[in-house]
Amino acid sequence: MKKNKVVIVGTGMVGMSYAYSMVNQGTCEELVLIDLDKKRAEGEAIDLNHGLSFAPRKMNIYAGDYSDCKDAYLICITAGAIQLEGETRLDLLHKNTKIMKSIVNEIKKSGFDGIILVAANPVDIMTYVCWKLSGYDKSKVIGSGTTLDSARLMYTLGERLDVNPKDINAYVIGEHGDSQFVAWSYALCGVQPIYQIASRKDSKIRFEDLEKIEDEVRNIAYKIIECKKSTYYGIGMALTRITKAILENENSVLTVSSYLNGEYGHDDVYIAVPSIVNENGVREVIHLPLDNEEKEKLDKSVEIMKENINKLDI
Ligand code: LAC
Repeated sequence: MKKNKVVIVGTGMVGMSYAYSMVNQGTCEELVLIDLDKKRAEGEAIDLNHGLSFAPRKMNIYAGDYSDCKDAYLICITAGAIQLEGETRLDLLHKNTKIMKSIVNEIKKSGFDGIILVAANPVDIMTYVCWKLSGYDKSKVIGSGTTLDSARLMYTLGERLDVNPKDINAYVIGEHGDSQFVAWSYALCGVQPIYQIASRKDSKIRFEDLEKIEDEVRNIAYKIIECKKSTYYGIGMALTRITKAILENENSVLTVSSYLNGEYGHDDVYIAVPSIVNENGVREVIHLPLDNEEKEKLDKSVEIMKENINKLDI
């Protein structure tokens, strides 16, 4: 297995934003683009290669097929129908399960034995479907989860608090979708900048503003879709962040979609919770001390995931 070989399945806007971000950050050494539209994948590879003299490192970028998966370290599945205006991510359930089935079948035939990163929506359920059908170890099948949503929260709070978003320690957890929520009990513990700044009388942000911010983050993808039909730069960079944590064995904490095996009182479900991510995938799930309201929200999110999984023939 080549430690720095990544395969992207799907050269749509998400897949190519991820690829473009990886090239600009020099995240891997070999990048393979797979798409049903082979001509498009070829064109994308040629176009990306023309930017390499500006990139931080040499990369071998080419359009390939599933036979290129065998010695890859990571496969990122971005292929799938996209959320149209007025649709929820859950509306993509059956369409994208069908696509996922065909992709997993090809990956298994290739002899791939690395890590799979799922981005297709509804991502928590698509990650479960990928894990169930592939038979790979649950720690080696990961979803992008709410990594992007947590980044959206960090950006929004950073703007309001005038603090670098990188230093805002706050998590969006649960479904990457309408039942996601912010673990404020963690984000507002005494040492956090949010708590200290929001507690000040003259603060630009008050505790009562936080619920509005949570709603804004939860719904911002609908706004982006209304403006420009789909989202792709944010998720492309989130996927790059997760890939970096894997390829560089970072042991970083990210709110990826992880398999719960008793954690938070749930099992046999993928959902986004803070997880330690390294070269083996998810090393372990972090158990946040949720308050009662947050625990109910997580239970509800898990219930929605399981309800939808039960609709599938997998
Ligand atoms: C979004 C897509 C990735 O939230 O679901 O932008």
